[in-house]
Amino acid sequence: MKFFVDTADIAEIRDLASTGLVDGVTTNPSLVAKTGRSFLDVIREICEVVPGPVSAEVAATDHATMLAEGRKLAKLADNVAVKVPLTPDGLKTCKALSDEGTAVNVTLCFSAAQALLAAKAGATFISPFVGRLDDVGSDGMQLIAEIVEIYAAQPNLKTEVLVASVRGPGHVIEAARLGAEVATLPPGVLRQMFNHPLTDKGLAAFLADWGKTGQSILSEDDEREPARRSA
Ligand code: G3P
Repeated sequence: MKFFVDTADIAEIRDLASTGLVDGVTTNPSLVAKTGRSFLDVIREICEVVPGPVSAEVAATDHATMLAEGRKLAKLADNVAVKVPLTPDGLKTCKALSDEGTAVNVTLCFSAAQALLAAKAGATFISPFVGRLDDVGSDGMQLIAEIVEIYAAQPNLKTEVLVASVRGPGHVIEAARLGAEVATLPPGVLRQMFNHPLTDKGLAAFLADWGKTGQSILSEDDEREPARRSA
């Protein structure tokens, strides 16, 4: 399963990318607005830090302008995935861009019917928003299960399920169990995934016992090395 990070904060992206666990980045207009920076500069910079797909969303709602914006965004870097909303004009734009060889992420998906249309329009990724469905009393993960099942039953559809609007590690684990190809994680959720109180407790005990031995792995190597050389 691929992990993308759902942020436009370059410092966060650099920090998380250094773990070696980040396969891509998703942004949206709200996340870019939070940075207070130029959208195009931010996308260029993220694309230099993370070699995997970086989603950059169009701002127009009509097909002609979305297509022009999408083409401009795609020229920023080879790893840009143009993000379009799941509307009739958005899917028309998705089809045109994917026919040109541009990766497209179709966003704001809230139903299996929408996901089926996006796949037929050649989307590289479909982004169902699980958290926002949960927020209105619906079941976001049920939608992921439906989309994964539909795409598996239709092998001609090549779209990857990119689980978005993730609220916690539980969403990520469930998405992985269901076979979704990608989850885009807010930085805090990726950090939460490292943590378990028993890991902290176990490590503290191991370190305390190791301290009692009085040994040091590195200094022992350094002491033995000359002896080996002279042998
Ligand atoms: O980037 C799209 C999606 O992940 C947004 O999530 O938390 O605003 O519902 P959220």
